[in-house]
Amino acid sequence: MAAAAPSNVHLIDHPLILHKLTVMRRRETTTREFRQLLRELSMLMAYEVTRDMAITLETIETPIAAMQAPVIDGKKLVFISVLRAGTGMLDGMLETVPAARVGHIGLYRDPETLQPVEYYFKIPKEMADRDVVVVDPMLATGNSAAAAVQRIKEAGPRSIKFVCLLAAPEGIATFGAAHPDVPIYTPAIDERLNDHGYIVPGLGDAGDRMYGTR
Ligand code: URA
Repeated sequence: MAAAAPSNVHLIDHPLILHKLTVMRRRETTTREFRQLLRELSMLMAYEVTRDMAITLETIETPIAAMQAPVIDGKKLVFISVLRAGTGMLDGMLETVPAARVGHIGLYRDPETLQPVEYYFKIPKEMADRDVVVVDPMLATGNSAAAAVQRIKEAGPRSIKFVCLLAAPEGIATFGAAHPDVPIYTPAIDERLNDHGYIVPGLGDAGDRMYGTR
C-alpha cells in the first residue's frame, strides 16, 4: 500500500490524470504526444487547484427569468511559470481559466554554489489581492521551487499554491520546510532522486521531452 501523502501535499489522483501521466512517462511517447498530454493534464489539474476559488453572485437574464448566478473573478488568479518547463503547463491552465494573469520566473543553478540564481522575473503588478498558482512540472530537489516561491512572496500575494506533475520525497521535504504555508498539488510522489537530481522512475527531463531538445 502507498504511504499517506505528507500533510502539505494534495494528491490529485483522478483516474484520467493518472492515466495520462503514465503515457507521458513512457520512453516511447513522442514530443508531440507529450505536449498534448501535458496540456490535457494541466487542464484537469486546474479544476482541482481552483476548487476553492471565491465566487460572487451576479444578476443575469436567462431566456426565461432573471437570476443571481455564480461567477469567478479570473483576473484575481495569477499562474506563474517557472522557466522553462513550467510554460508547458500554462497552456492547459489558461484554457481552463482564460482570464487569469500570467507571470514568469527564471532561475539557474550556479555551478559553484549550487544555489538557484534568478535571471528573469516578471509578474503582474498589485499582487495583494491576487491568488498565485506556481507551475513547474518536476519538484525534484525543491531548491528552485522554494527560491521561486520566496521571490513571489516578496510581492505579497493573497495566497500561493504550487502545482507539479511529479514530486520526489526530497523535494517535498525541502519545499515544505521552506514554505509550510504553501500547499503542493501533484498527481504522484515518486520513489527518490538519483545522483544527477532526476526523479526515479520519473519521466526524464520534462523540458527536453516537451520541446524535443534532446
Ligand atoms: N527536472 C526534470 O525535468 N526531470 C527530473 O527528473 C528532475 C528535474
